[in-house]
Formats: sequence, C-alpha cells, structure tokens
Amino acid sequence: MATTAKSTLFLSLTFLFFSLTSASSEPDILLTFKASIKDPMNYLSSWSHTSSSHYCNWTGLTCTTSLPLSVSSLNLQTLNLSGEISSSVCSLPNLQILNLAGNLFNLAIPLHLSQCRSLETLNLSNNLIWGPIPDQISQFGSLKMLDLSGNHVEGKIPESIGALKNLRELNLANNLLSGSVPEVFGNFTELRLLDLSQNSFLDSEIPTGIGNLENLENLLLQSSGFHGSIPESFVGLLGLAILDLSQNNLTGLVPQKLGLSLTNLVSFDVSQNILFGSFPNGICSNAKGLINLSLHTNLFNGSISNNSINECWNLERFQVQNNGFFGDFPNGLWSLPKIKLIRAENNGFSGEIPESISIAAQLEQVQIDNNSFTGTIPQGFGLVRSLYRFSASLNGFYGEIPPNFCDSPAMSIINLSHNSLSGRIPEPRKCGKLVSLSLADNSLVGEIPISLSELPVLTYLDLSNNNLTGPIPLELENLKLALFNVSFNRLSGSVPSSLISGLPASFLQGNPGLCGPGLPNSCSDGEPSPKMVGLSKFACALIFLALAVGILVLVIGVTEHDLMAAMDEKSAIGFGVFGRVHIVKLPSGELVAVKKIVNFGTQSSKALKAEIKTLAKIRHKNIIKILAQILGLQWGDRLRIAIGVAQGLAYLHKDYVPHILHRNVKSNNILLDVDFEPKLMDFGLDRIMGEAAFQSSLASESTFSCYLAPEHGYNKKASEQMDTYSFGVVLFELVTGRKAERTESENSSIDVVKWVRRKINISNGALQVLDPKISRSSQQEMLGAVEIALRCTSVVPEKRPPMAEVVRALQSLDSRTGFPNVEFSASDEFSVPV
Ligand SMILES: *[C@@H]1O[C@H](CO)[C@@H](O)[C@H](O)[C@H]1NC(C)=O
Ligand SMILES: *[C@@H]1O[C@H](CO)[C@@H](O)[C@H](O)[C@H]1NC(C)=O
Ligand SMILES: *[C@@H]1O[C@H](CO)[C@@H](O)[C@H](O)[C@H]1NC(C)=O
Ligand SMILES: *[C@@H]1O[C@H](CO)[C@@H](O)[C@H](O)[C@H]1NC(C)=O
Ligand SMILES: *[C@@H]1O[C@H](CO)[C@@H](O)[C@H](O)[C@H]1NC(C)=O
Ligand SMILES: *[C@@H]1O[C@H](CO)[C@@H](O)[C@H](O)[C@H]1NC(C)=O
Ligand SMILES: *[C@@H]1O[C@H](CO)[C@@H](O)[C@H](O)[C@H]1NC(C)=O
Ligand SMILES: *[C@@H]1O[C@H](CO)[C@@H](O)[C@H](O)[C@H]1NC(C)=O
Ligand SMILES: *[C@@H]1O[C@H](CO)[C@@H](O)[C@H](O)[C@H]1NC(C)=O
Ligand SMILES: *[C@@H]1O[C@H](CO)[C@@H](O)[C@H](O)[C@H]1NC(C)=O
Ligand SMILES: *[C@@H]1O[C@H](CO)[C@@H](O)[C@H](O)[C@H]1NC(C)=O
Ligand SMILES: *[C@@H]1O[C@H](CO)[C@@H](O)[C@H](O)[C@H]1NC(C)=O
Repeated sequence: MATTAKSTLFLSLTFLFFSLTSASSEPDILLTFKASIKDPMNYLSSWSHTSSSHYCNWTGLTCTTSLPLSVSSLNLQTLNLSGEISSSVCSLPNLQILNLAGNLFNLAIPLHLSQCRSLETLNLSNNLIWGPIPDQISQFGSLKMLDLSGNHVEGKIPESIGALKNLRELNLANNLLSGSVPEVFGNFTELRLLDLSQNSFLDSEIPTGIGNLENLENLLLQSSGFHGSIPESFVGLLGLAILDLSQNNLTGLVPQKLGLSLTNLVSFDVSQNILFGSFPNGICSNAKGLINLSLHTNLFNGSISNNSINECWNLERFQVQNNGFFGDFPNGLWSLPKIKLIRAENNGFSGEIPESISIAAQLEQVQIDNNSFTGTIPQGFGLVRSLYRFSASLNGFYGEIPPNFCDSPAMSIINLSHNSLSGRIPEPRKCGKLVSLSLADNSLVGEIPISLSELPVLTYLDLSNNNLTGPIPLELENLKLALFNVSFNRLSGSVPSSLISGLPASFLQGNPGLCGPGLPNSCSDGEPSPKMVGLSKFACALIFLALAVGILVLVIGVTEHDLMAAMDEKSAIGFGVFGRVHIVKLPSGELVAVKKIVNFGTQSSKALKAEIKTLAKIRHKNIIKILAQILGLQWGDRLRIAIGVAQGLAYLHKDYVPHILHRNVKSNNILLDVDFEPKLMDFGLDRIMGEAAFQSSLASESTFSCYLAPEHGYNKKASEQMDTYSFGVVLFELVTGRKAERTESENSSIDVVKWVRRKINISNGALQVLDPKISRSSQQEMLGAVEIALRCTSVVPEKRPPMAEVVRALQSLDSRTGFPNVEFSASDEFSVPV
C-alpha cells in the first residue's frame, strides 16, 4: 500500500514538472538563460521579445530543420561572456550543441548541464574554468564531444571519466591537470580525438589502454610530463593519423612493429624525448622494395604503383629530433610521395640518402644535422621542386655537391657545414629565394662562384674552413649580406671595398693572400683612410618643423592661407621624403618650419584628417613639433637626446593605443629645442599617406637605407624591432660622431653599423669608435652606449631589446641625477582639434 502511494506521488510530481517546463516557450527559456549571463558588449541584443525576427534567428542559435522549430544548437563563442551558465538551458528539449568557447566564464565545471538530455557537444574551451574534474563527471554519459581545453582545470583525472563511453572527442589540453592518468581510456571505444597535451603537471606513464582505441585518429600527448616507454599496445591504433608524443620524458625503444600498423599515419612526432635504440624496421619498411628498384635506375624518375608502398603512404611529417636514436635511418621515408617534413637532427642515425628521394615530390624541409649520415648528396634532391630547407650539417657526407643542389625554386636555407664534401662549389643559378648558405668546414676547392651574387636575398654566406682559392668576386657587393664568412681558406687578392668596410674583418681571417684596409696586408694601390667628421647634421639642424600642415594650423592659430602664402620657393630649406620643408615667420615673429605633405597616396582627405587627428592626440613631449638651434654637443647633451628619442619610441610602441610604429627613425627626423630636448617627427606617416605611397617614398630615399634593418628587404611587415634597429643607428651616430652613411669614394660608402663592428673586431675594443671630440671623462658612459647600440642593431630581430628596456639602459648610464622622467603630460601645449 505504502509503496503504491509513493509511486503515485512520484508520478504526479513528474507530470507536474513536465507540464511546467513544456509550458515555458523556448524564447522564455532562452531569456532566462540570457539573464544569468553577463554580456558587456551586448552581443545578445537580438535576444529579446521585442525583437522583430523569429527567435531561431537570434544570435548564435540554430533550430531543427523540421517542424516544429526548436533550438538544436547554441553557439556563443568568443563574445566576452561571463556570469553563470544557467541550467534553464537544459529545458530546451532538442539542444545538442552548446558552445561557449573563448569567453570569460569563471566557474567550476558546470555539472548541472548533465541535465541536458539531448546534449552531445559541450565546448567550454578557453574560458576561466577552475577546480578539479569531479567524480560526477560520469553524469555526462551521453556526451559525444567534451572540450575543456585552455582552462584552469586541476588535479587528477578521476577514474569515473571512463563512464563517458560515447565520447568521440575528449580535449583536456592546456590545463593544470596533475598526477597520473587512470587506466580507463580503453573504454572510450568510439574515441576519435584524445588531447591531453600541455598539462605540464601530469606525472604519468601513457595508459596502455589507449592502444585499444582502433578508431582513434588524433592522439596528442605532447608537453605533458609523460615518462616511461611508448606502450607496445600502440600497434593497435589502426586508425591513427596524427600522433604527437613530443616534449615529454619518454624513454626506451619505439615499439618494433609500430610502423606496420600505422597505415593511415599523416604525422608522427616523438621529438624531444629520451628515446633511444635503433629505429624499428617496422616504420615504413615496406617502402624498401622501392629503394631496391631505384638503386638500379640510378636516378629515379617516374611514378610508382601503390602496391610498392602499402604503408606510410600518407605520411607527411616525421619528427624524431633530439632523442638518442642510432642505427640505420628508416630508408623508405626518403621516397614517400606525400612526405613534407623530415626532422631527425641531434641523434646518432646512420645511412645514406637514396637517389629515389626525387619521388618525394612534396618534400619541403629536411633537417638531419648532427647525426652520422654518410654517402653523397644525391642529385635527386635537385629534382624536388618544393624543397625550401635542407640542413644536414655535422654528418659524414662526402663527394661532390651535385650541380643541381640549388635548383628548387623554393630553396631558402642550405646548411651542409661540417661534412667532408669535396670538389668545387657548383654555380647556384635557380634558387632566387636562397637566404642562407653554409658550406663551412668541408674540403671544397676552387673559386667562390660569381653567380652567388645573383641571388637577390642571400643574407648569410658561410664558406669558412675550406680550401677555396682565387679572389672574392667583386660582384658580391651587390648583395645585402649580414654575414660573410670566408675565413680559413686560401683566397687572395683585394677584398671588395664594401665587403671589407661593411663586415667584421675576422670573417676574412686565415687567408694570408687577401689584402685591403683593416687586413694585415694592404693592397699596393692603397685606399684612403676614413676621415672623421663631426655631427654635421646636428650642427646644421636649424629650425624645425611641424608634423603636418593640418595640425600646425590648429595649433598655432594661423590660417592655412597664411601658411600657404608663406611657403614659396625662397622659404624652402630642403626636401624631406614626404615633401618640402619651409621656414615660415608667424605673425608673432616666431619662426617655425612647416613640412608640406605632398604625397597623400590614395587616402581621401577625410581619411587624412582622421589620421592627423589620431596623430595629434599623441601628446608626449618628445613627440611634437618645435624648433631649435644647435651649437655644439657634449656627451651629456647627446645622451639626453638618445634618451629622449628612445622614450619617444617606447611611448609610440607601448603606451599609446593603438600602437604606432615610427617606421622612419633617422637623425634627420629628430628635432631639438633650445634645451636639446629631442622631438621625433614624421612618425606614423604611413598612416597618413597610405602604405603604398609610404613604401615608394622610402624606396626613393635610398641614401637613408642604412637606417633600415637588414630584414626590411624580405620582410615587408613593419615591426617594433625595425624601429629599434633604426634607433641603434642613430645612437651610433651620437657616440661616434659619424654620419649614418658616408660616401667613402665614388661608388663606395660605409654604414656606421658595419664600420663600428669592423673596428671592434679588429681592435678587440670599442674605444676606437668613440667620437674623439668628446672628453675622456665620458668614456665609460659612451662605451655603455656602444654596447646598447650593438644590441639594437643585432642582425637577428629577436635579439634587439624592446625600446622600454633601451630607455632604462640609457638612463642607467646617465651619471647626472635628477634627469627628468618623461611622462604623459595632460597639459601639453596643444589640444586635439575637433
Ligand atoms: C530568419 O531570417 C531570414 C531573413 O533574414 C528569413 O528569411 C527567415 O525566414 C527567418 N527565419 C525564421 C525562422 O524566422
Ligand atoms: C573583449 O573585451 C576586451 C576588453 O574587455 C576587448 O579588448 C575585446 O575586443 C573584446 N572582445 C570581443 C570579441 O568583443
Ligand atoms: C570548441 O570550440 C573551439 C573554438 O571554436 C574549437 O576550436 C574547437 O574545435 C571546439 N571543440 C570541439 C570539440 O568541437
Ligand atoms: C570500463 O569497461 C570495463 C569493461 O567494459 C568495465 O568493467 C569498467 O567498469 C569500465 N570502467 C569504467 C571506469 O567505466
Ligand atoms: C623531464 O624530467 C625532468 C627530471 O625529472 C624534469 O625536470 C623535466 O621537467 C621533465 N620534462 C618534461 C618535458 O616533462
Ligand atoms: C632489398 O634489398 C635488400 C638487400 O639489398 C634485401 O635484403 C631486401 O630483401 C630487398 N627488398 C625487397 C623488397 O626486395
Ligand atoms: C623526369 O621526367 C620528366 C617528365 O616526366 C622530365 O621532364 C624530366 O626531364 C626528367 N628528369 C630527368 C632528370 O630525367
Ligand atoms: C594511390 O592511392 C591513393 C589513395 O590511397 C590515390 O590517391 C593515388 O592516386 C594512388 N596513386 C597511384 C599512383 O595509383
Ligand atoms: C649533437 O647531438 C647530441 C645528441 O645526440 C647532443 O648531445 C649534442 O649537443 C649535439 N651537438 C650539437 C652541436 O648540437
Ligand atoms: C649550420 O649548422 C651549424 C652546425 O650545426 C650551425 O652551428 C650553424 O648555426 C648553422 N648555420 C645556419 C646559418 O643555420
Ligand atoms: C687544403 O689543402 C691542403 C693541401 O692541398 C691540405 O693539406 C689540407 O688538408 C686541405 N684542407 C682542407 C680543410 O681540406
Ligand atoms: C667564421 O668562420 C670561422 C671558421 O669556421 C669560425 O671560427 C667563426 O666562428 C665564424 N664566425 C662567424 C661569426 O660565424
């Protein structure tokens, strides 16, 4: 009796619940859900009863395709949402997908969403979800996809997670999970993707059960503190396409039969572990038939039937670098039709590269440095048109470099240094994209090929430690080399002047037959020794300059007409990049210089005004106009200029939003006021003129190219580091008293960066580069400034310090106390035009 009564009560309650929820219309449910959410950017404004459109058209909603219409998917990713995720959403009877990825939800894992009966996909990736995975995670038994990646989920993964037997994707990457991973993964028989990567607090072996997952396609366990060996069970991963076990502490051998089974493999990455031993015969071994075939035909050229490679056919990326492997490298890899990337550097692999490499028609990148490979460099390489990097230094390759070694039109980096190659260097003709060529430390003979000078972007050339003879070709002056190392050869004759003036002499050393300035032997006809000049451009800096006519008009209260009238031929004092500079006398009697921007590019005048307004808003005392006059400059003044300019740039780069790059730093663009307070001008002109006009103006101003960072040629994207480089050049000017670029003779000039490097290299000390007109008491500070300038002008952009750091370093040199700290000053002299 009692039992019956209880069930009746239960039934009626259930009925009541059901009727209540079904009474709520879907729009009401959605609005209840919305009410729990914080939506600062008002992205959900369309969610409203007053909205004219049907609720199925509200932001982020998708409804079922059949009638009656009902919400099936809620996709609200990357909308800056926070607050609560209300379980009211579970009253939507057909909701299958809930995607709240990329928001700011700061919650524990919302277990109440397990009430959503139809839910199959729950995506909470990239939020601020915290706390452990609770045992009750098992309540999500019907989920097919669970994505909690990119949160702060911590603690051990509970065994109860094994109850999620329907999962096809489980992504827990990039969290704070710790401890060992439980042995329950074998239960996820439907799993296609398992991602536990980037959980650096895990301390676990790889669960062997994973090997049972025949349907698994992506297994991502990289950077997660896994140790122990790769389970033998992995041979069971028959569907695997992407395997990433890199950056762990895995030890031992790779399972011997692994390769036989992984026929669908696209990417294999076990790099950066402590794996060792010889590589299994299994990996791609069936491709051996092919190798045998190709050995007979010397140079393989043609297609192969699919039968000859029935495994690894799909492999594109093979990465085993930085382990302790030794023994023969799996040879079949070299001839796979889809292979793009082979990285095996820093192991002990032996073996040869077969001619059949020409079959690897998609190959882009080979890095096998620091192994024990031997044999010759096959001609087949030259037939691979997609190859852009071939790096095989520190091996035992011998014989001649094949004549087509640089035939790939994509080739950018070749490093064959530290091998036993002999013969002459072939003329590289076709690789117009070659940036770096290193053939150092071989036994190459003959002359340096002249056609190297026809490779327009060649930047690093290291031919040191060979037996090269003959002269250094004059034509190499055409190149904008950052590194030219021919030391320890048997070269002779005079060194082309731009090479010797531009590059450190040590890179020429060990060639007793070479002669030229800075070398032990001077050539018989002699070259003039460089003369010192003062800071002439500062000395003749007169009166300067407003940013643009528009600003000037609004700032100084004269009309545009007055200015235009005053700007005639007589008032012009010179041409800048972007137009003529005029000196104009204002009604007040004050003299100002005005730059008239003549080249507006394609920007409309409306856009121009908007940009000028933006630029005018930047009120910083080092980034304004105004005028000055220079007499003589002692070190203290120069340091003050350097600090001011650096502060101006740091401000542009970091403090001002949106960030602005100067892109045209040079001493001509630095104006000084009566207190030697520097003012940067011409900043952000690219924004006024438009990119195309800006670029062509720069190009037309080739005499100032010495301010441009070396990467400017091939990296069109402007960067802070390029500004830093230009600043370094200015700093060198201040320390050395030399112009940035000096014409040395009719067709040679020295840029100050190269001049300093060369001087320092010869004399092993920076004292020689300091401006002799400045008293010795400042030497220490000046040497410090040289050090900073060297870092700013580093060939490698990443090595240049951020401008804020440069400011600090320069300030720490300044012996005077009370140096004014520049800060944003709201009372600066002009206000924003409206
Ligand atoms: C959604 O809006 C489109 C036009 O914007 C309209 O054609 C469609 O009928 C609307 N759907 C519903 C369910 O109201
Ligand atoms: C999110 O908010 C931040 C600042 O609170 C803002 O910078 C960002 O643009 C917003 N993102 C979106 C997608 O609205
Ligand atoms: C979750 O959303 C993110 C961001 O849109 C997406 O990259 C990821 O693939 C989604 N996860 C799943 C399992 O669909
Ligand atoms: C995994 O599956 C096995 C057998 O199917 C079962 O005994 C075990 O309880 C399951 N584990 C979990 C955590 O569900
Ligand atoms: C490998 O183990 C060492 C020593 O236990 C540890 O310091 C290091 O962080 C581990 N590396 C990884 C990638 O887990
Ligand atoms: C390839 O040649 C080697 C010896 O050179 C031989 O052991 C191997 O069986 C050959 N493989 C095939 C598939 O013919
Ligand atoms: C390889 O074959 C192609 C045509 O299939 C031909 O154009 C090319 O010259 C051949 N290369 C060599 C080295 O025989
Ligand atoms: C080999 O098989 C793949 C599919 O597995 C196919 O795309 C390719 O065209 C085949 N190649 C040849 C030469 O038959
Ligand atoms: C070469 O690789 C070994 C590991 O095999 C490593 O210890 C060594 O530092 C590497 N040498 C260079 C120059 O990178
Ligand atoms: C070439 O390889 C050597 C030895 O591995 C290395 O030291 C050098 O940095 C490499 N050169 C370039 C330009 O990558
Ligand atoms: C250069 O040639 C000389 C004599 O021919 C030889 O003794 C020397 O070993 C060679 N040096 C190199 C680096 O090959
Ligand atoms: C130039 O080559 C020599 C000899 O190989 C070497 O010792 C030196 O480090 C190289 N210099 C640079 C900057 O690469």
